[in-house]
Amino acid sequence: MRRLLLLALALALPSAASAQPGLGVKAKTGQGLYAEHCLSCHGVDGSGVTSASHPRGVLDVRGLGPPLKDVGALAADFYLTTGYMPLEDPHEQPRHTKSPFDKREIAALVAYVASFGKGPPVPTPHPERGDVSVGLSLFTEHCAGCHQVVAEGGYVTNAVAPPLHEATPVQIAEAVRVGPYLMPRFEKSQISDAQLDSIIAYVQWAKHPDDRGGWSIGRIGPVPEGLVAWLIAAVALVGCCVVIGRRVRQ
Ligand code: HEC
Ligand code: HEC
Repeated sequence: MRRLLLLALALALPSAASAQPGLGVKAKTGQGLYAEHCLSCHGVDGSGVTSASHPRGVLDVRGLGPPLKDVGALAADFYLTTGYMPLEDPHEQPRHTKSPFDKREIAALVAYVASFGKGPPVPTPHPERGDVSVGLSLFTEHCAGCHQVVAEGGYVTNAVAPPLHEATPVQIAEAVRVGPYLMPRFEKSQISDAQLDSIIAYVQWAKHPDDRGGWSIGRIGPVPEGLVAWLIAAVALVGCCVVIGRRVRQ
């Protein structure tokens, strides 16, 4: 038994020696994954990679990747769970895809990136405390310009504002505080945590709108609904006229 223990210790030592002191087990696993998948663009300890010879990308990112010192678990969790990172080409807009990492690997990477500095933790939103109609008006004010009222996504210059139906409540809360890519970052003074809960409640509702109140003609809203109603009425009216006309002629 003692020999086994010693063997285990001996095996553990080399990796412990090469890892940064003071890192937990999780962050140490993250350090290895970071070296393999992120270091080339984000540099040692998240110092960022910039190079004058590299063409300037969108966002004025010179070189390959921005520094990650104080982005915290919040930004790391957002960029990893959405599959935005690892990015293939530093000049491309990150897209929502399936992450190549599993949950455990993501947690390890998040812990490691968080160890770089004093960034914010992963948020815990409470959309159940929010109000859908308050959320709708806040969304219309702050988000719909890019993401459209029904959160179906849209276009902004040089970027695509993605549809929001794939985003989880935590990812929505993170996106609002991070401001990924060309999206603005919203401070708590602009959108409080309580208001954010309402926005999330609205986005969640928009994913599965309650259809009882009208026809779901592609869920495009009341205007086409009205048009279709008029069209049906017009056809019915013409039909009546034809029938009445025939009766009169007989
Ligand atoms: C090909 C280069 C590249 C690779 C590889 C890459 N990144 Fe990035 N990363 C970028 C660029 C460019 C941005 C800026 C894009 C943006 O703001 O949306 C970025 C942004 C980020 C951000 C947000 C920073 C902020 O200021 O909010 C985080 C967090 C991040 N990356 C983590 C990672 C992690 C973790 C990995 C490894 C799994 C990784 N990245 C791999 C290029 C890369
Ligand atoms: C100036 C335009 C703009 C505004 C305003 C804006 N966004 Fe965004 N948003 C974007 C862009 C562009 C992206 C894509 C980021 C990327 O690809 O890295 C995005 C991404 C997101 C995502 C991630 C979606 C995913 O699954 O990839 C969420 C969630 C989000 N926005 C929510 C919001 C909310 C909520 C608001 C309002 C409080 C808002 N956005 C305001 C442009 C905007």
